[in-house]
Amino acid sequence: MKVYRVKDYDAMSRKAAAFLAAKMILKPNALLGLATGSTPAGTYKRLVEMYQAGELDFSGIRTVNLDEYRGILPDSPNSYYYFMKENLFSKVNILPENTYIPDGSNPDAQRVCREYEDTIERLGPIEVQLLGLGHDGHIAFNEPGDEFEDRTHCAWLNEQTIQANKRFFETGQDVPRQAYTMGIGTIMRARSILMLVSGREKAEILRQVLEGPVTPKVPGSILRFHPDVTVFADEAALGDGGR
Ligand code: F6R
Repeated sequence: MKVYRVKDYDAMSRKAAAFLAAKMILKPNALLGLATGSTPAGTYKRLVEMYQAGELDFSGIRTVNLDEYRGILPDSPNSYYYFMKENLFSKVNILPENTYIPDGSNPDAQRVCREYEDTIERLGPIEVQLLGLGHDGHIAFNEPGDEFEDRTHCAWLNEQTIQANKRFFETGQDVPRQAYTMGIGTIMRARSILMLVSGREKAEILRQVLEGPVTPKVPGSILRFHPDVTVFADEAALGDGGR
């Protein structure tokens, strides 16, 4: 794992966008694995700026997102589909048919997950998978547990995640309890991984990811077994440690 200390959220977002842009320039039809949430929003904003400045071309790029809530319609403002549309897809020249997100409106979990995994296998491998880190150590919606789940599956969100994500909903009750998510194996099969971590409230879990035991109780810790992981973490998330 290569861990880079950056000053703050803005510096992290700029470096992450530059990292993704470099991959896109080297491989104009790259398959990018994308994430949602507060962490990558600044990266997408910067990518849009680069596109508007004529520095980036998305016309051949293909994307697969990590996850989507189960039981949500794509046009709901809380869906990850909506997030991606608002933050990136509607603002660059990516072709809608080249963007893939699990279909949260389809209740047939087995089918959605099998088809999504098949899609990734057909399009893959993922050139670079962008990741945020959950407060409980989750990556995508792989919550802490007794084992690592290999493939795309339907996951229950744990209480800490529901609490963290309720800021996007009117009440905590409105947060869906399940999500379709890439598995740990799906993520680990990406050629490279870029994890972004920002903020003091992630400092302790980031320390566990980087230095604690590799265990499904801290799902992000598995990344230490991947041969090509880059972490951009800001000073608040890295704390005073000498990394
Ligand atoms: C989002 C995802 C999640 C988030 C994580 C951190 O697609 O898979 O694992 O990356 O919950 O979320 P934020 O960035 O909002 O702190």
